[in-house]
Amino acid sequence: MRSVIWDDGAVKMIDQRALPWKLDYARLNTVEAVAESIANMTVRGAPAIGAAAAFGMALAARQSPATTVAGLLDDLRQCGDLLNAARPTAVNLAWAVNQLLQIAASGEFNNVDDLRAGLLLAAQQIADDDVAINRRMGAQGAGLIRPGAKVLHHCNTGALATVDYGTALGVVRAAHEAGVDFHVLLDETRPRLQGSRLSAWELERLGVSYDIIPDTAAGYFMQQNEVDVVLVGADRVASNGDFANKIGTYQLAIMAAAHGIPFYSVAPTSTIDLSLASGADIPIEERDSSEVTTPYGNPITPAHFKARNPAFDVTPNHYLSGIVTENGIARAPFSESLRRAVAGEQV
Ligand code: MRU
Repeated sequence: MRSVIWDDGAVKMIDQRALPWKLDYARLNTVEAVAESIANMTVRGAPAIGAAAAFGMALAARQSPATTVAGLLDDLRQCGDLLNAARPTAVNLAWAVNQLLQIAASGEFNNVDDLRAGLLLAAQQIADDDVAINRRMGAQGAGLIRPGAKVLHHCNTGALATVDYGTALGVVRAAHEAGVDFHVLLDETRPRLQGSRLSAWELERLGVSYDIIPDTAAGYFMQQNEVDVVLVGADRVASNGDFANKIGTYQLAIMAAAHGIPFYSVAPTSTIDLSLASGADIPIEERDSSEVTTPYGNPITPAHFKARNPAFDVTPNHYLSGIVTENGIARAPFSESLRRAVAGEQV
């Protein structure tokens, strides 16, 4: 099961808004529709939106009327801006768009048809690499889950949030595949409920033992000694290890520290943004307040009640026990270990 694929001239993706009730697919024929699918969270999760954007760029190249490589590059830059504007926090989106723009600007292709074919191959490669990298992260992190462990997880970081396999839930999956017996507490993750709708759907399919918990119950379970390790994903990691992830991650980190519970983020090196000195520089998306007052079209309050809806928060690096990457588990001092992991060194 891949969350996003290239399908005969279009981008096809699982419609994550319909889960867990229906496994529906969206088939998008324009780059505008791909950008909208990222903004409205038909596809979500940092690596998955990176892959969707890469295929969106390949689609844009195919549909551009340009007859010269320079003209096509101009069109692609505009489409890249459109895709980048869809969601600002996850760096994988801009990372994927940049990868394709660099290929278009490389001078490697001297006619538009070859460039179009080259961009599609590059997008496919980004999607394939994501799956391989997630499996490597799973292998690197599986040992963090001991037999009998109780794992706390936030949001959805599984196959749906990536092209396949997952990041933090990829670690969960690797431990499960290794035959380790353990239990996962899934934060429901308000307001979009990625935990109760998507992570629970994935763990049901995998046969991993889990319970959904209200976000507000995490501290209770820590106090009751029902959490041995916290595993979360990341949308952008700054060079000092501060990282943005789904709203609520920061308070989990503080509670884990208060209870002496190890707290790990699991993120591929494509999520690490060495250009940022600290988490203070990470742009935080604020989404429409109707997601809080009227989740999935179900009104909780009268329409005119006011609400705020930041989609991510930033956790300072000192709360982290480590960051699991495909090149090993980066530990403090993160400015050194993350630089080495991004350079492809084993950390
Ligand atoms: O708003 P979302 O659902 O796209 O947020 C997703 C997360 O915060 C994940 O933890 C993150 O993308 C890493 S998952 C591979």
